[in-house]
Amino acid sequence: MTAQAYFLYHSIGMYPGKARDIAARMADFAMVWGTPDDAQWADILPARAHFIDLWRCILNAAPGSVTTCESVTQGFHMLLQALPSAHLAGKTVLVGADCFPSNHFLLQSMAARHGFALKTVPLRQGAAHVEDEDFLDAWTPDVGLALLTWVSSTTSHRINLRAMVAHGRRMGSLIGVDITQAAGLIPFDVHAPEVDFTLSTSLKWMCGTPGAGILYVSPRLIPHCHPECAGWFSQDNPFNWDITRFAFAPDIRRFDSGTPGVVAALASVPALEWHAAQNHAALLAQNRHLTAQILDLADSLALPVLTPRAEDQRGGSVMLRLPDVTPAPQVVANLRAGGVITDARGQTLRLSPGILTTAEGVQLLGQKLPSALRV
Ligand SMILES: Cc1ncc(COP(=O)(O)O)c(C=O)c1O
Repeated sequence: MTAQAYFLYHSIGMYPGKARDIAARMADFAMVWGTPDDAQWADILPARAHFIDLWRCILNAAPGSVTTCESVTQGFHMLLQALPSAHLAGKTVLVGADCFPSNHFLLQSMAARHGFALKTVPLRQGAAHVEDEDFLDAWTPDVGLALLTWVSSTTSHRINLRAMVAHGRRMGSLIGVDITQAAGLIPFDVHAPEVDFTLSTSLKWMCGTPGAGILYVSPRLIPHCHPECAGWFSQDNPFNWDITRFAFAPDIRRFDSGTPGVVAALASVPALEWHAAQNHAALLAQNRHLTAQILDLADSLALPVLTPRAEDQRGGSVMLRLPDVTPAPQVVANLRAGGVITDARGQTLRLSPGILTTAEGVQLLGQKLPSALRV
């Protein structure tokens, strides 16, 4: 029953044949890499470019505006340290208290050296996500850069991106968006509304592997960025060996440095190809159908729902507040023993149905949850 009752798409996405596809792609890589000829680069560099192109389709991003990074945190660091100091020094960087904590850790660590003040929009008393209204109120003209979290990882609240970006443009700020929690499930376009940078990983709704993050930077911003970690791959011609003639590539490649770590991108290509071949409207409709059933189930058990009910205000998950008397790790373990795969953040039970999850899986959740709560 596990596949049908797999609810971890906010963490690791699964699709039919994923294990087989990764094994085949990695076996292929091993053969190329382990064969004593000179065919390696001609094989793996185009494969990395294919990974980037598949991501460009998801983002509707222009050629030369997307590159690989290890994680969202690392990609955000790549961008921040490359910005002209005028965007950060003496300015405010704005973020919500419900951002992915790793991004907040990074901003805290960079604030003093880069001379910016970090302003964190707080949660209201008892709330689990930052209200758009509060974020907008805090977004004043001194904000040099704002990081928007499109969908929260602990409530699945989705911000009104259009309204946020429109306001940010009036404030003259750089605007970045972390799309990790809904990329590949809910349509996203770097041009609508137009954002300055975008970050994601591949491992959630796209079902890829860890280490396969992406950084998009607007072609308008790229020429102004000077990455500190310059290297041979950040040049237009990586084979320029003249140490007196270094020049950044005109496009996103300037964010590359030394030999790119391609393995995670290669391992993720089959998943991205699978995703590209799907009917995306059908994927979303299936998620909407199953999340509606989970919301009904939560209501029938009188479990508080932390996720907004309106479809246009939520990502792909339903997050429930468990009673304090039932420790979440125990509830998760009980569900697992009953063939239902979930996780929790604190007392928040996270439920994200994707392509493998079925209505029978939600029914099983409904059967197991009442007893799982009796711990
Ligand atoms: C909103 C959001 N951002 C980022 C991440 C992951 O960040 P990183 O790739 O730096 O581990 C997650 C992971 O769950 C997330 O939910």
